[in-house]
Amino acid sequence: MSDCFRKVAVEAALRAGAFLRSRFGERPRVSYKGSHTDLVTEMDRGAEAIILEALRSRFPDHRILAEESGAVPGRAPHRWIVDPLDGTTNYAHGLPIYGVSIALELDGALALGVVYDPSREECFVAERGRGATLNAAPLRVSSTAALGESLLGTSYPNDLLAAPRDNLAEHAALIRRCRGVRTLGSAVVGLAAVAAGRLDGYWEQRLGAWDIAAGALLIEEAGGTVTALRGGPLDLSTPSIAASNGAIHGAMLAAVTEVAER
Ligand code: 2AM
Ligand code: CA
Repeated sequence: MSDCFRKVAVEAALRAGAFLRSRFGERPRVSYKGSHTDLVTEMDRGAEAIILEALRSRFPDHRILAEESGAVPGRAPHRWIVDPLDGTTNYAHGLPIYGVSIALELDGALALGVVYDPSREECFVAERGRGATLNAAPLRVSSTAALGESLLGTSYPNDLLAAPRDNLAEHAALIRRCRGVRTLGSAVVGLAAVAAGRLDGYWEQRLGAWDIAAGALLIEEAGGTVTALRGGPLDLSTPSIAASNGAIHGAMLAAVTEVAER
């Protein structure tokens, strides 16, 4: 893959992240995407405009899927998948757990993932077959061998009250089998934490492709495992996700499957 894709994606993520960081702590104007818990702010839109402008000016025939703009058509086999501000609710409340996510698919397969955490000034990059890095240092998932010794992350759907599965039963099942579950409110930050070995696993349901595309590649390239929450390959079109260091994956899926069968 061309180094140019990586360079443009990293620069766009850093620029959008710097914009978000510069306005962090101001209470942004909020509007709602359906329910009173599903927020969108002027900052989501501003960060997305920065990223889309960077991608469109360099790659005018590439397709784009972005959280706030939806699908942008194009002729090329390349598709960029963009979450300009993941963790919008955290951001709107001044809680510094949020991230920018940019992934590139080539002929339907993830080829590049970039996650930027503006609060910690951490830039995670993965390229298929070339490993994952955090601020240029190689990344590796944790070596925790047992679910009982694991720290896990999760988040809840924005439309919790309407959601057919609200994740509470899965949370209850897993928290009793591990050291702790942290509810982060940002899938992007949670998945990057698994790639960095800070969390041993992360799961969530009812996401968008933009929430998980870059993070999934980061984890695979850092030596971890990513599947659908009920097992089987991850499907970006109906994303629920189980992600881990690999060693605890079977035990995580078993706990979730027991809940589903109740
Ligand atoms: P967001 O902050 O960009 O909305 C916790 O809510 C995490 O799950 C966040 O990463 C959030 O992304 C994502 N999320 C929650 N509900 C979602 C939905 N219905 N569609 C897409 N992403 C969702
Ligand atoms: Ca998101």
